[in-house]
Amino acid sequence: MRVLVVGSGGREHAIVRALARSPQRPELLCAPGNAGIRAEAEPLDADPGDLGALAGAAVDAGVDLVVVGPEAPLVAGAVDALRAASVRCFGPVREAARLEGSKLFAKEVMEAAGVPTGGHAVARTVADGLAAIDRYPAVIKADGLAAGKGVVVAADEAEARAALTAMLEERRFGDHPVLVEEMLVGDELSVLAVCDGERALPLAPARDFKRIGDGDTGPNTGGMGAFSPVAEIGPDLLDEIVATVHQPVLDELRDRGTPFTGVLYAGLMLTAEGPRVLEFNVRFGDPETQVVLPRLRSDLLDLLWRATRPGGLAGAELEWDERAAVTVVLASAGYPESSSSGDVIRGLDRVPPEVEVTHAGTAEAGGEVVTAGGRVVNVTALGADVAAARDAAYAAADMIEFDGRRLRRDIALRAAA
Ligand code: AMP
Ligand code: GLY
Repeated sequence: MRVLVVGSGGREHAIVRALARSPQRPELLCAPGNAGIRAEAEPLDADPGDLGALAGAAVDAGVDLVVVGPEAPLVAGAVDALRAASVRCFGPVREAARLEGSKLFAKEVMEAAGVPTGGHAVARTVADGLAAIDRYPAVIKADGLAAGKGVVVAADEAEARAALTAMLEERRFGDHPVLVEEMLVGDELSVLAVCDGERALPLAPARDFKRIGDGDTGPNTGGMGAFSPVAEIGPDLLDEIVATVHQPVLDELRDRGTPFTGVLYAGLMLTAEGPRVLEFNVRFGDPETQVVLPRLRSDLLDLLWRATRPGGLAGAELEWDERAAVTVVLASAGYPESSSSGDVIRGLDRVPPEVEVTHAGTAEAGGEVVTAGGRVVNVTALGADVAAARDAAYAAADMIEFDGRRLRRDIALRAAA
């Protein structure tokens, strides 16, 4: 079987690695990949931004299954284009991908499906937005895609005004209205479920660290590290989350004639009143994928293949490694506001083989691996418990060096105590 993985981040590298572990021994292709992915999967000459060209290249390469990693091509309709070319594809169609592409659409679906989430107001002007806030702090969200950076928790009016101005007047994330959302308090949890249009099969829950700085300070990023499993989430609570969050959304989208196939990722706040949805993503999380897939004992290829058929997941069960996993993200100078590139990455060869290093923003230049983006590499280690996994992940992370390298030192710290 020939499987094409679309994307170029740490998530896609982790997917390529997990597919390579499949007993079906698939031939792996990538578009476009990065320095790490391209060493393990055959690069296909196709720009994922050009959906027609991507579908054409997949057909020409005799691809049996496409796995689309990032949100941008999904929201643009990559799955629709591939299916129109009769290529089997894991991921939601464009209409279903709006769950991530538009936070307003997600709120509307949640309301229709009765899914618990924070209260919100829609603002089209800065004055509107400020009027919607009756007390601080408030959460201000750009409606469109923003690579995890379009959310500002505003502590006071000055911060709220700055965020509203950047989003509504400078149109930093496109020409969209803004959502002013009730601030929710609690621990966060990522519950990713593989969906076949009818049912949702949850992956092991993970906790992501979204802020750039230690102690959850500084701006939001795509994610600076993660751990799995999350001790307080037992099987009953996980089932309850899937029954109250994922399943009603699947039912709602099926009833609308746009069934959801792919990964439905619920970003949750575990509040004193119960879990509340912060956001939906319509794809594997990054870095959640890097921390979760190394624990998956079942065949990922079989799982994704089955999910592409309505009802294909009936009877499917997943097996997990009992060990814990911790992922630490190494980012480049300036992230998340900017990133630097072209710095040589040293020490990759010093990392012990049992630690998984996935490449995110890397490229090959003159025989060396260099930085090429905000999040550069991810280091994932397994251990008997979170503390052991954490120690091994940080020991390996400290072997990898590049100019301006930045990382959080407190990933999974509380869970390891
Ligand atoms: P989102 O992209 O909507 O998940 O937001 C990114 C991050 O912002 C979340 O992972 C939370 O850390 C934070 N956040 C989003 N919405 C809220 C909210 N209503 N209350 C508190 N924090 C939030
Ligand atoms: N880790 C957050 C995300 O994938 O959006």
